[in-house]
Amino acid sequence: MTGRSQGLSTRCVHAGEIDDAHGSPHTPIYTSTTFRFASTADIVEVVQGRKSAALYTRYGLNPTIRSLEEKLAQLEGAEAALAFCSGMAAESALFLTHGRKGIVCLGDAYGGTLELVAAQLPELGMRTALLLGSESDRLEAELRKGAGLVFFETPTNPGLEIFDIRAIADLAHRHGALVAVDNTFASPANQQPLALGADLVVHSATKYLGGHNDLLCGVVLGSAEQVAPIRAAVGVLGGVPDAHSAYLLLRGLKTLALRMERHNANGMRVARFLEAHPRIRRVWYPGLASHPDHAIAARTLAGFGGVVTFEVDTDLEGCMRFIDACRIPYIAPSLGGVESLIEMPVLMSFWDVEPKARQAMGITDSLVRLSCGVEDADDLIADFEQALRKV
Ligand SMILES: Cc1ncc(COP(=O)(O)O)c(C=O)c1O
Repeated sequence: MTGRSQGLSTRCVHAGEIDDAHGSPHTPIYTSTTFRFASTADIVEVVQGRKSAALYTRYGLNPTIRSLEEKLAQLEGAEAALAFCSGMAAESALFLTHGRKGIVCLGDAYGGTLELVAAQLPELGMRTALLLGSESDRLEAELRKGAGLVFFETPTNPGLEIFDIRAIADLAHRHGALVAVDNTFASPANQQPLALGADLVVHSATKYLGGHNDLLCGVVLGSAEQVAPIRAAVGVLGGVPDAHSAYLLLRGLKTLALRMERHNANGMRVARFLEAHPRIRRVWYPGLASHPDHAIAARTLAGFGGVVTFEVDTDLEGCMRFIDACRIPYIAPSLGGVESLIEMPVLMSFWDVEPKARQAMGITDSLVRLSCGVEDADDLIADFEQALRKV
């Protein structure tokens, strides 16, 4: 099947699925860690790379994992995809492979990424720089120093800042650097960074790609040339997914396009409702004209996603009362699943950041991050209406 020319929903359902001997409509779960050969001559062909076949699961040479990678590649419009057991495993392998000349991490990034880039990798002797979005003008200076990889999320977390992928890619390429985009918050349904000039894409597939809060996976995508060294590294670093998670992700992906339509619609409805509510101080949602990066978002995103960040007009305790009064969203970290999830960044991802530094990052005591699931928007809005009365 030549999925690339088909629509996204068709690719979600059919791309990459492999036939088994019994006509199963989905790729079976191959739990085997190793695969047998008819002769030594046969296995030598595979080991020496002249023929591709299932061989050993840690190398990703397992039919369920390969099927997943083919589907992911077709959804993101990439030549090659490499699946991992978590988003962080994907990022680690990417940085260890393509970050050796130096990494610039731009904008707010997920806490685990910041820990990796700011602390763990420098301890291994790697040169890294963290620049806030407002410090983007320093990117060129970092590139002049020889950084070989620019990495950023867009939209970012939790401020939903939007970067101009094409402009950053043009600048990085002029200096011979690669650009990797964490596309977790957008998903390939809303944003295609490779088509906008990025060299590599990373996802925490735990979020929208899986979509059901029931699996942990990651993926790196890009050209065959850029993905090959990462594949060689992961064979020994060992961060591959197991076949059960790969299967769950394959299944979740079948409804990605459908789910994203609802996440986008719910995000927009809820953001508009909150923006008009007298107990809400401010809403960050790239689909709102009030968002500082709305103009870029309107150009780069096909939909604005399900994550809405907002500040309640109250103090820490009042905000906790609001969260506790919500009946539909679960109080939980993470995002991108069918269930709405709600959290206060100040109490979760940023609890150990010193208050002054937290304020400087815009993480106030009444900031809320909501991941709209696929419930009915009217029910979500009615729930927030009653919960805001408890502030
Ligand atoms: C934007 C982003 N990237 C990467 C990660 C790490 O992914 P995982 O939890 O699958 O390791 C997360 C996790 O929350 C994330 O939000």
